Amino acid sequence: MDISRREFVAGLTASCLLCGCTSEEKAPQSAPATADPQSSPAPKAAEGELIAIPADCLAPGDQAHLTLPSGLMILLWKDQVGYHAVEGRCTHRRGELNYDREHNDIFCKEHGSRFFVDGAVEKPPAKVALKSYTVSIEGENLRIAERS
Ligand code: FES
Repeated sequence: MDISRREFVAGLTASCLLCGCTSEEKAPQSAPATADPQSSPAPKAAEGELIAIPADCLAPGDQAHLTLPSGLMILLWKDQVGYHAVEGRCTHRRGELNYDREHNDIFCKEHGSRFFVDGAVEKPPAKVALKSYTVSIEGENLRIAERS
């Protein structure tokens, strides 16, 4: 049985009146006719979060511990090239991480783990690499995104 779009929408609206849906839930928005889930992947956190450049992280060697709007904790640091970021807690037992400017690596003073700046484990007891993020400058802000 074929029904017109108008009949379909009217039926949905009537159903929503019965079930108590809010107005946002009632009428279906027309999707693009060419929508193809294979060609348009769902947005993900990797698209990045925008934060103001921290005032205490402006010069090479500076670092900051930040919680992004999403709740993600990161260690951000600046070197001669630019900004970098990894997750803010050690993969061993969640100790706080710091950037070591002299060795250009990341360390955890809880049990001595060290990580390369790309997040790979340099020295145990940590066995799992840190997540690392791309950091790009957008005016007075930084965009921090998951590496793909
Ligand atoms: S918590 Fe970092 S080395 Fe153990």
